[in-house]
Amino acid sequence: MGEEKRLVRALRGEKLAHPPFWFMRQAGRYLPEYRDLRAKAGSFLELCYNPDFATEVSLQPIRRYGMDGAILFADILLIPDGLGQPLAYKEGEGPRLEPVRDRAALAKLDPGRVNEHVAPVFETVRQLARALPEQVTLIGFAGAPWTVATYMVEGGSSRDFAHVKGWAFADPDGFQVLIDMLVEATVAYLAEQVRAGAEVVQLFDTWAGVLPEPAFERWCIAPTAAIVAALRAEFPALPIIGFPRGVGAGYAAYAAATGVDGLSLDPSVPIEWARDVLGPRVALQGNLDPHWLVVGGKGMEEAARRLLDGWGQGADESGAGGYIFNLGHGIVPQTPPEHVAALCALLRGE
Ligand code: CP3
Repeated sequence: MGEEKRLVRALRGEKLAHPPFWFMRQAGRYLPEYRDLRAKAGSFLELCYNPDFATEVSLQPIRRYGMDGAILFADILLIPDGLGQPLAYKEGEGPRLEPVRDRAALAKLDPGRVNEHVAPVFETVRQLARALPEQVTLIGFAGAPWTVATYMVEGGSSRDFAHVKGWAFADPDGFQVLIDMLVEATVAYLAEQVRAGAEVVQLFDTWAGVLPEPAFERWCIAPTAAIVAALRAEFPALPIIGFPRGVGAGYAAYAAATGVDGLSLDPSVPIEWARDVLGPRVALQGNLDPHWLVVGGKGMEEAARRLLDGWGQGADESGAGGYIFNLGHGIVPQTPPEHVAALCALLRGE
């Protein structure tokens, strides 16, 4: 076996002179070649379920910019689709699902059929594993149960999470049935991605930050810990990254209790705090505000250097190790592709 890839080395705690980097939503609408293929596919879902197209979309940013990680092109809402809750993406409106709000609706869902329904995703992973340059790490992913549940219960995106919080707070045992179903489906889904060739997996808990204690412990930390433990039982060396977005000081409890190897930091987390408090325990990833990539220029470069310097300083005394440069959330569609190129050049030390 040759030396491990840079991104995996960082996740194992190694500090690299130029940190490895990739960007959340690095494949997407800011790239003209993505928009072309998306138009050819017909719809976003057809793009996700067509392995040739999805492979091509994952490769597009790698070809342009040479990131250290390529993320599988898919979506966190393919699991509800596979459970039997049909999904549609309406142009300009985001995802739409028939809401699941009680035990009767739950009875119609079946975690046992998810992997069969989403089989094209595993074919995409296999194709990517063959096509990627050898130093690039293939990242698989899924949504964490709480975040996926918010879309399933609200029927799409939400501002106040009224229905999902109402259910979780008023009937926790009923809501637990949905979360358990999502844990089971997510373990099976990620395990199959790993068998197909994913080398690292990331769990996106985009809406973890709307949960108060102790709901955060029950609906974010506990299901994540269960997924990590189940994956570890089958793949002891698999690096797992968690992204409990917006949880503030809750990042410390999440790092201690879930067993993840890496934490993806949203833009609100102070890098010095993360380095000193979280760094000794887990590798860190993040947390450049994606809007710096829209602005570009000196401001973007200074913001990126601040992170690189903040990470370097004091890291050795604190025992902190691995760092992966990334954004604090996904690239936004209005990002000029040349700003991404400038940031990549800076990160390579060019
Ligand atoms: O490049 C990558 O990061 C890989 C692919 C990826 C997508 N979605 C593609 C996508 C990943 C990892 C996701 C994760 C995802 N999906 C999350 C968690 C991360 C986050 O951004 O918070 C969430 C909450 C979703 C659910 C989702 N998918 C919503 C709410 C939307 C509509 C909003 C929007 O940005 O359009 C999507 C659609 C989506 N997923 C697009 C892409 C490229 C845009 C679809 C299009 O082409 O119109």
